[in-house]
Amino acid sequence: MRCLVTGGAGFIGSLTAERLLDRGDEVIVLDDLSTGHREVVPAGAELVVAAVGDQAVVRQVLADTRPDACIHFAGLIAAGESMAEPGRYFEANVGESLALLEELIRAGVDQVVFSSSAAVYGEPQSTPMGEDHPTVPTSVYGATKLQVEQALEWMSRQGALRYAALRYFNAAGGSEGHREDHSVESHLIPLALAAVAGQRPVLQVFGTDYPTPDGTCIRDYIHVEDLAAAHLAALDHLAAGGSSLVANLGTGRGYSVREVLAAIESVVGRPVPALMADRRPGDPAELVASSKTAAEMLGWIPLRSSLDEIIADAWQAFER
Ligand SMILES: NC(=O)c1ccc[n+]([C@@H]2O[C@H](COP(=O)([O-])OP(=O)(O)OC[C@H]3O[C@@H](n4cnc5c(N)ncnc54)[C@H](O)[C@@H]3O)[C@@H](O)[C@H]2O)c1
Repeated sequence: MRCLVTGGAGFIGSLTAERLLDRGDEVIVLDDLSTGHREVVPAGAELVVAAVGDQAVVRQVLADTRPDACIHFAGLIAAGESMAEPGRYFEANVGESLALLEELIRAGVDQVVFSSSAAVYGEPQSTPMGEDHPTVPTSVYGATKLQVEQALEWMSRQGALRYAALRYFNAAGGSEGHREDHSVESHLIPLALAAVAGQRPVLQVFGTDYPTPDGTCIRDYIHVEDLAAAHLAALDHLAAGGSSLVANLGTGRGYSVREVLAAIESVVGRPVPALMADRRPGDPAELVASSKTAAEMLGWIPLRSSLDEIIADAWQAFER
């Protein structure tokens, strides 16, 4: 299979590109390097440096390479930043995605795997959250992901393409040559590891009075290797003629901030310098996925997502 991977210079995209190459697929990475890193693009992939919204370039790339499918990772990912810059987020995540989809359809590329997010749900009304949970995003970022899902749904209904929208919960972990390295880092584990290593100031823990057993927020962490495996399974599902789907990717087990910090201390052997702070607006107490759809439709189960393995692999990738 030949696959166009947008955002393949980023954390999840670069590892997925590598796993596609490992199994013998061909990969073309399309990335504008706005937040990604050229050096993490695997050697066997062709890299085209351009924005996904640059229709002239995308049209040429599709004509030259004629991929069978596209995995669309590219986008801006910081929910906090999206609230300060809504226009930029809608343009990059929705406007550019629509431009890409138009070119894919024009070129006859009718299988698309899309990086969606738990942020489409907003405030949880029940836990664990299934895909039928109401989608009422509380951030611009979440709204942009939902809008692209809606566009995909309409395009699929019209017969223009088939898609898998994968709603990741908290991507984490790492692998040789692949670590979380976002320009605006807002994720707990990389921030905590950087604080342990003395590369960032003490970690701020936002909120210790949530209605959870230890008062801190609970999240569902999923290893980046498990995410990559889910993308390969989604591509295979579509290639075999499978129907469009929307699927959560999580473990069904949540960990509190304090549990994550304790696990880091035990794996790394040093405490995380942390400061307890007030709650941040918009952070739900608990976000945990039901991933039944991914299990049933893609045969996917997370194999690498115990908290200790996530942290050990993130720390190893961080130290390299
Ligand atoms: N990391 C998470 O926890 C998480 C959770 C849910 C969903 N997601 C989604 O997964 C995807 C990948 O996330 P990541 O953590 O690997 O992020 P990342 O920032 O590491 O990677 C994003 C990549 O997209 C590229 N990019 C951004 N805008 C672009 C554009 N307009 N044209 C071309 N390239 C562009 C960047 O240069 C970067 O290489 C994103 O769509 C994100 O919203 C991530």
